[in-house]
Amino acid sequence: MSLILWNNGLSVNIRSIDSQHQRLVEMINKLHDAMKKGESNTALSGILNDMASYTLVHFKTEEELFAKFNYLQKDKHIAEHKEFIKNVSSFIEEFKAGRKTLSLDVMNFLTQWLSQHIKGEDKAYSTFLNSKGVV
Ligand SMILES: [Fe+2]
Repeated sequence: MSLILWNNGLSVNIRSIDSQHQRLVEMINKLHDAMKKGESNTALSGILNDMASYTLVHFKTEEELFAKFNYLQKDKHIAEHKEFIKNVSSFIEEFKAGRKTLSLDVMNFLTQWLSQHIKGEDKAYSTFLNSKGVV
């Protein structure tokens, strides 16, 4: 069963960004499935690494659009990205060192962060970017 399901309420009305968000949703579900199946820490680390690097690609896509169109609310948004990267990177480091385990709490943190960030900061740029022809 999927931990998080994509739905139209998560759309930011920009196809390329929606598909990146959908891929992140898939990656969270993949991680959750692997956790439930009790897969090895090596396997889980691999999925975590993939998720973290794809998150960087995705944040870069958004931040390049903010710079290109001079999105005025970009600072707060970029600060949220940085905070998330910091938290995820430190979790991955602790996990690899065997000091932390992948738990439902961690999965809930990822799920909550993604859906709240999309519904908040991301949706806030929809109308602005749409008005610049980004659809
Ligand atoms: Fe974002």
